Amino acid sequence: MSGGLEIIRRDLAEIAARAGEDLERLDGKRVLVTGGAGFLMSYLVDVLAARSEASERNDAPRVVVVDDFTTAGRDRLSHLASHRRVDLRERDASTLELTESFDIIVHGASIASPVMYRRMPLRTLEVNALGAWALLRSAQERPPEAFVLLSTSEIYGDPDPTHVPTPETYPGLVSPTGPRACYDESKRFAETLALTYFRTYGTPVRIVRPFNVYGPGLRHDDGRVVPSLVDDAQNGRDLVLHSDGRPRRSFCYVTDFIVSLLRVIAGGVDGEAYNVGDDREEISMRELADRVRAVAQAAGRVVVRTSADPDYLTDNPQRRCPDLAKLRALGGSMPCVALEDGLTRYARWLAAERDARRGKRES
Ligand SMILES: NC(=O)c1ccc[n+]([C@@H]2O[C@H](COP(=O)([O-])OP(=O)(O)OC[C@H]3O[C@@H](n4cnc5c(N)ncnc54)[C@H](O)[C@@H]3O)[C@@H](O)[C@H]2O)c1
Repeated sequence: MSGGLEIIRRDLAEIAARAGEDLERLDGKRVLVTGGAGFLMSYLVDVLAARSEASERNDAPRVVVVDDFTTAGRDRLSHLASHRRVDLRERDASTLELTESFDIIVHGASIASPVMYRRMPLRTLEVNALGAWALLRSAQERPPEAFVLLSTSEIYGDPDPTHVPTPETYPGLVSPTGPRACYDESKRFAETLALTYFRTYGTPVRIVRPFNVYGPGLRHDDGRVVPSLVDDAQNGRDLVLHSDGRPRRSFCYVTDFIVSLLRVIAGGVDGEAYNVGDDREEISMRELADRVRAVAQAAGRVVVRTSADPDYLTDNPQRRCPDLAKLRALGGSMPCVALEDGLTRYARWLAAERDARRGKRES
């Protein structure tokens, strides 16, 4: 059990309360989650596993988790190792062939941190493109009720400012050859593939495009901006920005994301893509660093330093904010966790994890 699990458990209770009916609709279903040990999908797995205690009819979902631990730690789901309704399988999702049927398939396996996917570009292309293809082929033979593809807001590239907030209809401004292309373009390919299966075979595909989700489960060394800044702040270092601080993003706390993901799983329309994120604020990286500093009561200054990675800023989007009209039209609970609240929860989790790691080393 990881040190911060109590903080995650409170988040799970919040998700269950807000997504009640959508979760109930998954009772009795067999669910496959690829990338299930990662940041976002482990929350989904945990929420489904917790239904065992909450489901009155004793028919909580059965969950098969596939992950090869390319980027995930092994401890995140260790508390579910002997859970009677969760089956954890160490497999490569790029070459997965399903020999059994599922009611719901969620393809979340990927290498989502820009630092990590630039280190492993071919593995990123494989899991995003070939993994999606392998699963869609299997789904054609054994059709599920819903096939949910985790895509990304990165498919919009660096959007023209007149298209921010960005609706799902925006085609994107993306480089097919730059250092981020292994991620962006393979996600775009996966979307094309998924919709082609929908149009050709009627595969019930729904696409989710997450916008900068953060929260417990994001490891301190993940390389994304929120964990990096919070880790700097908690270790008494200066808070380092590798851009000039002007790029803007809208950050979404993980509970808000999972509630919306469950809405799309339970009530989304086949053949449609949905932006999922938080549209209430679009803030600069400089402002984010200042807020992290305040939340962590950090002594360090906010400084700009050139990244050791020469490609760090190449094709880096200047703005990112979702248009959520389509998600809103599905009904259900919309984002409500304020950035300060989310950062506080994440900072507590990261501190608890650090204490647990220290405890292990000393014992
Ligand atoms: N967190 C975000 O803000 C965000 C934004 C946009 C898109 N997404 C997408 O959402 C999904 C989940 O993102 P996340 O932030 O939880 O990422 P994550 O990196 O924490 O999780 C991805 C998981 O996939 C696993 N994985 C990678 N390659 C694999 C393979 N070949 N076979 C099996 N497992 C493999 C990793 O070990 C990890 O557990 C991803 O598809 C990602 O692209 C996330």
